[in-house]
Amino acid sequence: MQYAFVLGRVYTLSLAELLQVLISKGIKYQVKACSPEVVVLELDQQIKAEEFQAHLGGVIKIIRLIDTFQKKGKEYPSQVLTNYFTYKQIKGYFHDYTGKKQFGVSIYSLDPSIRFREEVGRIAFLIKKILQDQAQSVRAVLPQFPSQALSSVQVTENQILNKGAEIVIISGNQRLFVGKTLVVQNYEDYGRRDYQRPSRDEKVGMIPPKVAQIMINLAGPLKPLGQILDPFCGSGTILQEAMLMGYKALGSDLEQKMIENSEKNLEWFRNRYHVSPGRYKLFKSHAAEISMQIPNLKIAAIVTEGTLGPIYGKMPKKPEMQNNFKNLSKLYDQVFKEFKKFLTEGSRVILCLPAYRVSASAYEQMPDLDFAEQNGYTVLDPLPKDLSTKYKFLRVTPRKSIIYDRKDQVVAREIIVFHYGEIIKTEPVIEDANASETESADKE
Ligand SMILES: C[S@@+](CC[C@H](N)C(=O)[O-])C[C@H]1O[C@@H](n2cnc3c(N)ncnc32)[C@H](O)[C@@H]1O
Repeated sequence: MQYAFVLGRVYTLSLAELLQVLISKGIKYQVKACSPEVVVLELDQQIKAEEFQAHLGGVIKIIRLIDTFQKKGKEYPSQVLTNYFTYKQIKGYFHDYTGKKQFGVSIYSLDPSIRFREEVGRIAFLIKKILQDQAQSVRAVLPQFPSQALSSVQVTENQILNKGAEIVIISGNQRLFVGKTLVVQNYEDYGRRDYQRPSRDEKVGMIPPKVAQIMINLAGPLKPLGQILDPFCGSGTILQEAMLMGYKALGSDLEQKMIENSEKNLEWFRNRYHVSPGRYKLFKSHAAEISMQIPNLKIAAIVTEGTLGPIYGKMPKKPEMQNNFKNLSKLYDQVFKEFKKFLTEGSRVILCLPAYRVSASAYEQMPDLDFAEQNGYTVLDPLPKDLSTKYKFLRVTPRKSIIYDRKDQVVAREIIVFHYGEIIKTEPVIEDANASETESADKE
């Protein structure tokens, strides 16, 4: 069965998370089409969309694809779909709702240079007319200009999924997919998990809960109630998300004040999200001295933003950056040695390093990852190699990391997946096995 997943702003990271979650859950996939906005996947089983969505920080919508059309040339979606929508067909898309129906139409173009803004209105009009001819009371919700797709906020606020349907069209050069949205990201809950926490420290910085969730997912398949360590826990964002995802959370920080902040936040979080007591533990420690505080510790994965060095109000000069990189290399060398004392072979460390934007798409990054590689860790490619080769817009750095950047921040985060110990090859993912059905990335 085919699904489409609308990807978040940092689409490479969103895609890496999604594919890792599928692998962790033992779901086989084929990538049928991909753009910076959306990926179409053939899955070997049905998914529980709501549960899935709640676990994915980087996915905005999950769409069940219902029909696929071959395109002959540069036809518009409304031309391809002229005779497709009938009353019977539309009824199949809509939620059974007896009051005034609300529906939306969104178009995602697989080629971002081709826009279909007017097409959204045309198709919505077509559907509305068919429903009105059957004496149905109906309202169409359209994307806000210049977008051609509804946001998760519009879908939620207009109760489209309960009172009708969001009909989604994904248009490429050779194929057109039609489906309906099953679920959208719960943006309100992410907001609560971020802004309603009792102790927020903007100066030290906090990672957004969505990114924390993505990083936890990149840690691979972990057993339920496996213990995740954040040794630079700050205000405890990664720890709260780990608990929400069914893991035990262990956090430490050099600063007593940060431990107190985390304690307040995690107690609030535990009560708010009904997490049973005893699911987290906090202690003050230098990240390179954890085993002295807790002997015989066993950890399933380490997920941490880490320290990014001094907090800069404006872009630091190059010598300052280099000095910071040198100090961080020294620190992470000690810290990665320490991690070996409580990680089992095969487990992962997900870490952020600072990356300073020096031009529109270039960053000044730590010159090397010797601190990890010399200690027996390997950097894992966050995406299957053939995928980033085929879809050139995917942004994996030459050293296999992904940069998470935000306009308002001086320093971006370079997210790296480290594997500890020998790499045992796992079952390969089926990638575009059915080549004849897959459009070329260049054409898309
Ligand atoms: C960027 S903040 C982490 C923020 C956290 N991810 C959050 O969302 O709240 C980095 C944290 O690392 C801590 N830290 C710095 N050096 C450390 C060290 N050597 N050992 C342990 N913690 C350290 C700082 O006190 C700070 O709380």
